[in-house]
Amino acid sequence: MLRRLYHDQPDSFAFTPANRAWAEGQITKYPEGRQASAVIPLLWRAQEQEGWLTRPAIEHVADMLGMAHIRVLEVASFYFMFQLQPVGSVAHVQVCGTTSCMICGAEDLMAVCKDKIAANPHELSADGRFSWEEVECLGSCANAPMAQIGKDYYEDLTAARFAEILDELAAGKVPVPGPQNGRYAAEPLNGLTSLKDFESGHTQYNASVQLAVDLGDTIKRIDGTEVPLLTPWRKDQPAAEAVAEAAPAAPEAPGKTAAVPARATADDGSSPIKPSAALPGQADLAARKGVWKYQPQTTADDAAPELLTAARGGQPDDLKLLKGVGPKLEQTLNELGFYHFDQIAAWTAANIAWVDERLTFKGRIERDGWVEQAGKLAAGEETEFARRAKDDGIYD
Ligand code: FES
Repeated sequence: MLRRLYHDQPDSFAFTPANRAWAEGQITKYPEGRQASAVIPLLWRAQEQEGWLTRPAIEHVADMLGMAHIRVLEVASFYFMFQLQPVGSVAHVQVCGTTSCMICGAEDLMAVCKDKIAANPHELSADGRFSWEEVECLGSCANAPMAQIGKDYYEDLTAARFAEILDELAAGKVPVPGPQNGRYAAEPLNGLTSLKDFESGHTQYNASVQLAVDLGDTIKRIDGTEVPLLTPWRKDQPAAEAVAEAAPAAPEAPGKTAAVPARATADDGSSPIKPSAALPGQADLAARKGVWKYQPQTTADDAAPELLTAARGGQPDDLKLLKGVGPKLEQTLNELGFYHFDQIAAWTAANIAWVDERLTFKGRIERDGWVEQAGKLAAGEETEFARRAKDDGIYD
């Protein structure tokens, strides 16, 4: 495949302040005169921020590293992980087409991509929100067939489940990644045949899926505020978070938006993937600052729901039985004063806004239906998600 710069380029590129602080931190890892060694992480960060590598981004990275533009272009055009053309604004789907995945149904997955996204790889969907490509082995062969979407692996796929996942993404949801056939990780489908003692130590999800669930929005573009910048060797430098909060918002690059083409803006009915008014992790990216941090509060105190200082009788409900709540979020909810399903089941719209403002996953409560789920669980009923979680043996 010929890899060259895309014909339609934006006028400029700038890292967000936090991404710039991160990039500068990477450069300091290398000895004086060897700053070029940071070229791949910086290119990757630029791609994470924008979705694809533009010519201005490549040149910006080259200038930061004191490299000739052509040298950085050589790197960007050599590695297939760098996208040299626009990708879907919501997600770029990478379907593994190597041996294990191919014999387990990768071609069926690609047929779904052709049907739902675009006829050809690297072609934007009609609404510009999705794109796809076939990639080489992604190292998840034991869970074939699989696809990487955003930063996560969706494994043990069938064409039907894969189509559902794309529809969920199109509807503004981020489906739980990992095995899609009930497996915990890469164990035999019928359960462990040896080392069975380890089964009792299962948490709700395997480690990588748990991380994704805690992060919550793994198709979100990286703006640098997700995790603290850790550069302990730079004792004189401010943390990225401080940099991000002190710096003004990155100016919109002139012509950037206009130059990134969508194949068509009209919904001509040719794709089942429809535009959605509010996508988590897209429209509100600039407003978001990290994960699980409390935000400045603007909702009135009288909008606060019932808060407890401790669980009644010292027996909190297992809030992880709510879809979308992992251990970290459960801890945050406890810290806010929520320990029981009936508390959450009683939330009014004003209460939801109050809680929403104190989390940074705006809209998640309604998106995942916490109030409805909590109502059922408080009444002693079971939700599909809670049943699956228990079937996995996590809460035995
Ligand atoms: S063959 Fe598909 S992940 Fe390895």
